[in-house]
Amino acid sequence: MDRRKFIRRGVLASAGMAIGANVFLGTSSCKGANDRITLALIGCGGRGLGCIVNCCKINENIVIKTVCDVNKTKLGKAASEIEKTLGYTSKQVEDMKEIFDDKDIDAVWIATPEHWHMLATVLACQAGKDVYVEKNPSINIMEGRKMVEAANKYKRIVQVGFQNRSAPYALSARQYIANGKLGKIVAVKCYNMLGGGKWEEKPETPVPAWLDWDKWLGPAPMRGFSPSIVDENGRGDWLSYWAYSGGGLADDASHVMDLARFVIGDPGHPKSVYGWGGNHIFGGTRETPEYQSIVYDFATFTLSCDNACATDYMTKTPGDIRMDPTKFPNWRNNSTRTEIYGTEGLMYLGRHGGGWQVLGPNNEIVAQEGGIHPDKEHQINFIESLRSRKQPNGNAEECHRSAVLVHLGNTAYRVGNKQLLFDPATEKFTNSEEANVIAKGYYRKGYEMPENV
Ligand SMILES: NC(=O)c1ccc[n+]([C@@H]2O[C@H](COP(=O)([O-])OP(=O)(O)OC[C@H]3O[C@@H](n4cnc5c(N)ncnc54)[C@H](O)[C@@H]3O)[C@@H](O)[C@H]2O)c1
Repeated sequence: MDRRKFIRRGVLASAGMAIGANVFLGTSSCKGANDRITLALIGCGGRGLGCIVNCCKINENIVIKTVCDVNKTKLGKAASEIEKTLGYTSKQVEDMKEIFDDKDIDAVWIATPEHWHMLATVLACQAGKDVYVEKNPSINIMEGRKMVEAANKYKRIVQVGFQNRSAPYALSARQYIANGKLGKIVAVKCYNMLGGGKWEEKPETPVPAWLDWDKWLGPAPMRGFSPSIVDENGRGDWLSYWAYSGGGLADDASHVMDLARFVIGDPGHPKSVYGWGGNHIFGGTRETPEYQSIVYDFATFTLSCDNACATDYMTKTPGDIRMDPTKFPNWRNNSTRTEIYGTEGLMYLGRHGGGWQVLGPNNEIVAQEGGIHPDKEHQINFIESLRSRKQPNGNAEECHRSAVLVHLGNTAYRVGNKQLLFDPATEKFTNSEEANVIAKGYYRKGYEMPENV
């Protein structure tokens, strides 16, 4: 047996645990493999439509009954795409309430911008629907906790779109570390060093006919429409605004940090965060920073995250490596890698597939496991959870904790590049009331997050 196969077999043999906690979420709505599952899509951008259609292709007995968007153009395109690829007509609605009121719908796929994720999730749980909600699940700490409360109270399956939790290579890395092979964890370094340039908001214009701007804003403060924020066909730059997102840290670094948390065994919250950042590179006017560097204190180790939209020469894991479990990235210029330093070795870990490799004392690879980008596995796991009522891999509690890392880092930046002390039990800051205000977020009248879910 060659060395690579030997390493792989050893790791997998010890990785016999399930990824998600084996908690059973009620019996009443159990569906067998032959029962049809009826889905609805809320937010018909590239991500939501692509994932839900793929999910229907790779799983049996699922139908997309309804698609919902406040952008008429994308709504129509989503219905056409479903007709073309799946061969039936989905109902088109512009208000997600119609989906929550429809008793036929078992589960909703939420792929709106971030400021709608949690309100839609809580409303869906209250209506008895299971949920797949995209990352970053929340836009503030408080509403992430509401997701957990709602999922528990209504015994709903809530799968967060942190798909790396369904990667077999993530599970074997977790088991490798749990077995003590890396020694004691010293430091975990997460990187999200992406490219970018100067960004300026385009002037406001009248609201275009294809958009319901009031509903797009939803819980966010009312303001005039700018084509910088929303694009008729593409994503737009809502990631540049705190009202709609947590910026690049929420968009991509959230995956890197969630995977790192998973692999080291899902530690609880850190007790403090120091974050520094700014728009000092290009000097643009985006609210979210061009670069930020964050250190989290987990008492026995630190986790850090460097997040940039200014380093074009770094590369995300290339497409051929993402889907080929025999190849590994060139770690040195891989923009979305994690380095886990133990007392016995250094693990490099990829986030778009790419697997993991451990370096020993003489710069030799002592263990490794390839792996592919696991969107498909995460979608299959969601449908299996709907049928089995077992917790999905992207369960609400752990994914909320990962999302909190994003909020901690951004809040430290927003209050002026400071160190913030955090009480893990109450999820509150103990040395900044300004930070606690950010942690509660803002909800416009008519779009309030319920106090009691
Ligand atoms: N897990 C991943 O790897 C991954 C990858 C890409 C995107 N995402 C996430 O998926 C989500 C969607 O991303 P995208 O690129 O498709 O963005 P997008 O902006 O293109 O699409 C979002 C859609 O939601 C719609 N929307 C806004 N408010 C709505 C409302 N009240 N009701 C119904 N629809 C509403 C918008 O009109 C838009 O069509 C984001 O949260 C993003 O971060 C995750």
